[in-house]
Amino acid sequence: MCGIVGYIGDREATPILIDGLKSLEYRGYDSAGVSIHNEAIMSIKTKGRLKRLEERLTEEPLQGTIGIGHTRWATHGEPSDVNSHPHLNGSCTISLVHNGIIENYMNLKEELEAMGQAFLSETDTEVAVQLIDYYYRESHDLLDAVLQAVDRIDGSYAFGVMCHEEPDKLIAVRKDSPLVIGVGKGENFIASDIPAILEHTRDIYLLEDKEVAIVTKEDITIMDTTKQVIQRDVFNVTWDIKAAQKDGYDHYMLKEIFEQPKVVKDTLAPRLPMDQDDIVLDNITLTKEVLEKINKIYIVACGTASYTGLVGKYLIERVARIPVVAEVASEFRYRDPIMDENTLMIVVSQSGETADTLAALRLAKQAGAHVIGIVNVVGSTISRDADDVLYTLAGPEIAVASTKAYSAQLCAMYLLSIKIAMELGKLSKDAFIELRKELYLLPEKVSQVLSQVDDIKALADKYINSKNVFYIGRGLDFAVSMEGALKLKEIAYLHAEPYAAGELKHGPIALIEDNSLLVGLTAHEELYDKTVSNIKEVKARGANVLAIALEDNKDISKIADDVIYVPRTHWMFTSLLANIPQQIFAYYISVGLGHDVDKPRNLAKSVTVE
Ligand code: F6R
Repeated sequence: MCGIVGYIGDREATPILIDGLKSLEYRGYDSAGVSIHNEAIMSIKTKGRLKRLEERLTEEPLQGTIGIGHTRWATHGEPSDVNSHPHLNGSCTISLVHNGIIENYMNLKEELEAMGQAFLSETDTEVAVQLIDYYYRESHDLLDAVLQAVDRIDGSYAFGVMCHEEPDKLIAVRKDSPLVIGVGKGENFIASDIPAILEHTRDIYLLEDKEVAIVTKEDITIMDTTKQVIQRDVFNVTWDIKAAQKDGYDHYMLKEIFEQPKVVKDTLAPRLPMDQDDIVLDNITLTKEVLEKINKIYIVACGTASYTGLVGKYLIERVARIPVVAEVASEFRYRDPIMDENTLMIVVSQSGETADTLAALRLAKQAGAHVIGIVNVVGSTISRDADDVLYTLAGPEIAVASTKAYSAQLCAMYLLSIKIAMELGKLSKDAFIELRKELYLLPEKVSQVLSQVDDIKALADKYINSKNVFYIGRGLDFAVSMEGALKLKEIAYLHAEPYAAGELKHGPIALIEDNSLLVGLTAHEELYDKTVSNIKEVKARGANVLAIALEDNKDISKIADDVIYVPRTHWMFTSLLANIPQQIFAYYISVGLGHDVDKPRNLAKSVTVE
């Protein structure tokens, strides 16, 4: 996720772009840059926060009345000056900013390199500007060159493009990444979202997928990719700037919950190309030969990320048949764990900076183990120190409580488990093809769960006065119950305990009394009957039961007071769908109790001390 902004008019472009980027910084903040046209295209781009770019622009001001700007959240290539946007062609006559992920960039890059195009950066984005350059040299028409280029690109994109030879226009085009056009008087704007330009105009064209806009000082023409002109009504923005920054959601947490279909797709799709019967994990160097010698896997992380580890343990042991220990990093690091060069460690971290997780990683490396990081923040310490990285591509997570990053971690863990099993010959090609089909359906199934938001909110209102909440499940559902209880504790400040459903009778059931709330997870179907028996035991002792179940297990409604159904999927992937109602439930309880949802008390987003 990145932010883009563009201006064309009579005013100086740089301050307008910088102001726009300030309101887009939540979309990414590891580097930033601008290109301004004034006789030639001049660019300044730099690693670091926007402040650094402002300093550079004070030293070396760029003057001109047309320009594009970008604030980056790295996905391909670490945060660095050269990987920052805008990206330019070799002769610096075309400049481009991008938000999205180009899934087939490797193939396109090879093709362009074979034709003599030189690449400077490690980004997927540079492929787009080089491709436009290639077609522009044939047609000398920027619109045509952009359309030919996007026709070759798979993945998601919002592009803003400017060209030295056509200095009277910006081209904007999008697919699966947001882009809006602001309508001014004698000036126009492009931006990733409305707040970036709200100071200048409240009249907006919302660009749809596969639409392109030619934006000049006086005019905006919107077309489809066959150049058919589209008449679009102007959307007049009535919200205030604060609401707009959250895309109209009340909190970042809710916005991030609703971003999950996209996050799941972004994390899965580039690794599951349809033209190869394999999972493609670019940054994993672990060879089959080394993997075959691995006799133990540790999955180490903290908090929510550690529950990805519990899911990973279950999946890897079941499908790849290697013993896995999943453990919290703060314990792991101080117990002299047994590791050697035949150990694989997987560390999971959204921030990539968590002190205990980093310490566990370093211990493993000292012992000669191979370390794979599942990390969200590109260029973070864990991503640099691990031998290999599998990025989660969730974009920046602003709310302290993790939602979309956790879902992306689960997806990464699904991919890694399947990949390990395939490499070891434990999973056939045919079985993989079936799993891939299911993985491709997951974003839509996540959307189906999200469509029940009003029903889940009603349940949150109903149970808002619960004092003690118990989450129970077996197998994969046990991992999901851990995350459900943590979410409720951290944002709603309610006492919530997760238990393996079979453990209840060994003590905790004594806590159950009239009106205790039990959240019973029953999505791990193999263990459905067993969990249902445990739910009955609790129900008989006076608890209210809210069950989370697969869509066609309707008989649960005879036992539970309320049921939230999630779509059926392959058993390996149920944890993703079963968890989402828990996020929404905790969110609305927190809102109902009047808490600061995005910044819960006593918590920090990145825990860099032990
Ligand atoms: C809870 C939450 C935390 C983090 C934990 C690890 O919602 O976000 O429990 O999961 O602090 O942080 P990372 O993933 O950055 O290592």
